[in-house]
Amino acid sequence: MKKIRYYFANWKMFQSFSAVKKFTKQALRDDLFLHPDKNTYIGIAASYEHLYYVEQKLKKSAVHVGAQDCSNVIAGPYTGQVSVQSLSELNLSFCIIGHSEVRQYLGQSNELIALKFKLLLAANISPIFCIGQTLAQQQAGFTCQVLFDQLEAILDTLSSYHGTTKIFIAYEPIYAIGSGILPKTEELQEVFSFLQSLFVQLPIAKNVMFLYGGSVCDAALPQLAEIKGISGFLIGKASIDFQELKKIVESK
Ligand code: PGA
Repeated sequence: MKKIRYYFANWKMFQSFSAVKKFTKQALRDDLFLHPDKNTYIGIAASYEHLYYVEQKLKKSAVHVGAQDCSNVIAGPYTGQVSVQSLSELNLSFCIIGHSEVRQYLGQSNELIALKFKLLLAANISPIFCIGQTLAQQQAGFTCQVLFDQLEAILDTLSSYHGTTKIFIAYEPIYAIGSGILPKTEELQEVFSFLQSLFVQLPIAKNVMFLYGGSVCDAALPQLAEIKGISGFLIGKASIDFQELKKIVESK
């Protein structure tokens, strides 16, 4: 059986509403987005204020819609936060958590992100749990240790989880994000083999998929296709342009 390839667009805060409207219009006219083959999964993580619109519009397509973050608490006096319950009522399929930009700019800790992970699974929303090291950590030989520390926070939840919601672990080396720099093939293979070895023992291993993120574009795909253990991609900058995203999805 051919494995599903996952393409998640992370729109970040790149677009205004008019650009989002233009994108959805293009998607609704495109065969690939309307009827991708059954082995292709396309997801779009829009920003909060666009989620309702994008979800309603793309309902007619095969595109799945998700959020870029969520709150770590259920409800209450938390100005500016968005609850998992709200995401669930919007019928969202997935939610990115622990993105390095959120860890860095909003100071979110491993423990706080782990709470979001738990809430998402309880709501049957697939978490896309992001992990990644800085260049300095990599050069000091700490890559696997850093990744393990980030993952350790969710290990308890993972070990006791018996549901069927898919879980995505997105490996995004921080220096590769938005820089046009792709890690070397050997470095990536080492990380994805390490990740696979960590998860293989878990009862839910078959529902855990590994994604790569960081300067993914169609030109990078031949190199990325060589790496074993990657089920798909988290695509930032290249995903906001409809034609560029289409080229990436087509070049599998
Ligand atoms: P990029 O972003 O594709 O622009 O490097 C990826 C991400 O941050 O998820």
